[in-house]
Amino acid sequence: MKIDVFTLFPEAFEWFEGQRHVRNAFGSGLGFACVNYRDTTPLTGGQVDDTPFGGGAGMVLRVDVVAAALEARYRVDPQHLPHRRRVLALTPGGRVLDDAFVDELAAEPELTVLCGRYEGFDERIIEHFASDAVSIGRYVLAGGELAAMVVCDAVIRKLPGALGHAESAWEESFSAALEGAPEYPHYTRPAEYRGWRVPEVLLSGHHANIKEWRLEQSRARANQGPQP
Ligand code: 6GU
Repeated sequence: MKIDVFTLFPEAFEWFEGQRHVRNAFGSGLGFACVNYRDTTPLTGGQVDDTPFGGGAGMVLRVDVVAAALEARYRVDPQHLPHRRRVLALTPGGRVLDDAFVDELAAEPELTVLCGRYEGFDERIIEHFASDAVSIGRYVLAGGELAAMVVCDAVIRKLPGALGHAESAWEESFSAALEGAPEYPHYTRPAEYRGWRVPEVLLSGHHANIKEWRLEQSRARANQGPQP
């Protein structure tokens, strides 16, 4: 998979690119590039945003700036781009990311991720250059960079070769293997700490019973909502 992230803050992704599972995925054919809108802006003085028509606080990322960045990168009219590849505009009001959406994105050969900044995007960017408006939840972040890392992290760890253990992305929270429920609880040594014992079944070595217990736990969590 090839991922291009368009941002005004490419340096914000340096930590992310150094993460073990991301580096592992590089070895299995992941391409990850950050593109700075400022490098191709058609405006003077590196300008990329502007005040909103109609008034109001903050600055809005300009449509001509994003068009120039996309055209320079892909050498096509950017309005044709969303028909050719998945272009995600990160915006708090978009389609909320969940495990099924992540699976959908992980199946794409190429992703383009557009980060907004300040008050966000000129709406024409979303309307004409993006295939999807994506949100990571119903709250507002100051910019799309953290959201972009969340989306990329969730997608990349689904790619073959990203995780050390092949099964760890299969039977995990919200996956089909657990009927869409949260994951069962995990324990490790010591088997007893301050009198708190690990459930006996996990120490039994009886794999069928363990599997059954884990599925029960997972189902119970699905019915209770998040644990305190
Ligand atoms: Cl994608 N962007 C911003 N700025 N805030 C968000 C978000 C995205 N998703 C949730 N909050």
